[in-house]
Amino acid sequence: MKILCISGSPRGEHSNTFRLAEEAVAGITTAEPGVSVEYIHLGSLRMEFCTGCGTCHRKLLFCPLKDDIAPVLHSMREAEAIIFASPVYINHVTAQLKALLDRSSPFIHCQMLTGKYGAALSTSGGGPHAMVLDYLKEYLVSCGVQYVGGVSGPISRFNAMKEEAKTLGVDLAKAVKENTAYPDQLSTIEKQREFFKGVISSRKEEWKGEYEYWKEKGWI
Ligand SMILES: Cc1cc2nc3c(=O)[nH]c(=O)nc-3n(C[C@H](O)[C@H](O)[C@H](O)COP(=O)(O)O)c2cc1C
Repeated sequence: MKILCISGSPRGEHSNTFRLAEEAVAGITTAEPGVSVEYIHLGSLRMEFCTGCGTCHRKLLFCPLKDDIAPVLHSMREAEAIIFASPVYINHVTAQLKALLDRSSPFIHCQMLTGKYGAALSTSGGGPHAMVLDYLKEYLVSCGVQYVGGVSGPISRFNAMKEEAKTLGVDLAKAVKENTAYPDQLSTIEKQREFFKGVISSRKEEWKGEYEYWKEKGWI
């Protein structure tokens, strides 16, 4: 079982949200001892912002920006489960995490993470941590990922959240192992696929890379 944990905090190993992610991973390894876990700290990477050039739609996932993002997107495609950890920064995910998500738009157009499972963690000083989880859930489901759950809260609840994160890890491992179906999410994924089928068909000359992917999948 391959687990990828992406931390959006700039505080690296000192991040409390990252420490929650480590608790989730502890839950996973208790349930499934042989898992491989990759941690990525976005704060330590060289990252440019998406320029909206559209190259990644024409030539699937190819980005002319030269930085450290391509291997992260590769790891996201390789993992069976993805955990996002982000503190609340001005009512949202951190800029580091948002910059990564902006660079992954073919994942949404082509539901490229279909079949994977996801979870999210967020901490705040007391502000809208649940909103951050909702946002990350929506992102993951848009990519075709089934979302197992999330843990969030003000940092004053850190100790309680550690236990919740561990339980979330156990649930995530179970979902991957048993291939659990979340019918509501599968229905949302199906509806979005219908929507993007129209979009990709109408732009097939322009977004050749994405159109080819859809054809290979037999979705179009
Ligand atoms: C730039 C910045 C913006 C923040 N914005 C918010 C916010 O909007 N609401 C809130 O409740 N806490 C906010 N915080 C507090 C962090 O969410 C909180 O300290 C969090 O637990 C830090 O997580 P970390 O240790 O994983 O980096 C902000 C902190 C920073 C540095």
